[in-house]
Amino acid sequence: MSLKDSLESVENDFLTDFAKTSSASDGVALKQKYLSRNGLVTNLFKQLGQVSKDEKPLLGQLLNQLKIDLSTKLDSLDSSSNSGPDSLSVDIAMPGKIYPEGSIHVLEQTMLDIKKIFAEIGFNIAYGPEIDDDYHNFTALNVPEHHPARDMQDTFFVDNDIVLRTHTSNVQIHLMEEEEPPLRFIVPGRVYRNEAISYKSYCLFHQVEGLFVDKNVSFAQLKGCLEYFAKKMFGTDRKMRWRPSYFPFTEPSAEVDIWDEQRNQWMEILGCGMVDPEVFKSVGYDTNIWKGYAFGMGVERIAMLKHDIDDIRLFYNGDVRFLRQF
Ligand code: PHE
Repeated sequence: MSLKDSLESVENDFLTDFAKTSSASDGVALKQKYLSRNGLVTNLFKQLGQVSKDEKPLLGQLLNQLKIDLSTKLDSLDSSSNSGPDSLSVDIAMPGKIYPEGSIHVLEQTMLDIKKIFAEIGFNIAYGPEIDDDYHNFTALNVPEHHPARDMQDTFFVDNDIVLRTHTSNVQIHLMEEEEPPLRFIVPGRVYRNEAISYKSYCLFHQVEGLFVDKNVSFAQLKGCLEYFAKKMFGTDRKMRWRPSYFPFTEPSAEVDIWDEQRNQWMEILGCGMVDPEVFKSVGYDTNIWKGYAFGMGVERIAMLKHDIDDIRLFYNGDVRFLRQF
């Protein structure tokens, strides 16, 4: 039989066999029979040495084509069969693919820590608008129009009367408009300020506001609450200091600094104070009955102190080498 005839007969045999295959293991047997080292197709290749020079190119081509056709058919069997571990396409001994794993952003982690600490001592969690009217961000917080205190927080304006909130204190007003006292909330969220960017200031950042309103609320309670927070957050050995301060919506007011080990200096992390009666008046709370304290802390600065991060901009440039450390 000429090589050409043998080729055809092998091809016919294969087609007959192939028509009968039903499982992937049949496919393995066929691969063995036709394509292995002593397989029928392989043997045809061996005979190629004996054919004449003229015939060789054409027969070589036909043989190659046959081999490709067979392999393609057998491969299609692999992917169409879904039998278990003996399926041709699955090598169960092969190591699995490893996909890169994401992680929770260090800022989000810090927010979660802060929320947990306050939730454990009875604070509810609330959220409010990042785009708000001038009234909620300023006026109702005892910052009247044209008052110099507005310059403390350089504002991004969306419209004449609409701002990107400069602090989460706007939510104090929303909460008190909606709820009757007593109330105890923390409010995490994003705030925006049009100020010079530096290692510790960015045009957007995160705050957690706190608001506690009840009948007998004292500055001592505020101090106790924030000292408890600082110990939980930074450990009992971290140095902390209180400074008198000024905010239009609290009286008296204070700021809290935490010792920055890296720079050997204090870093301010929050402002706080007793809710100014003017604020209660704007939401219609009776100032003879209700007292309160409020605070607003900077989440980035807390994360920087906690993890020795030396530049606030690192939180926002998406460098995975930075992000992977947490
Ligand atoms: N809103 C103030 C700020 O952003 C912080 C603050 C909140 C102070 C609540 C007092 C009471 O600087």
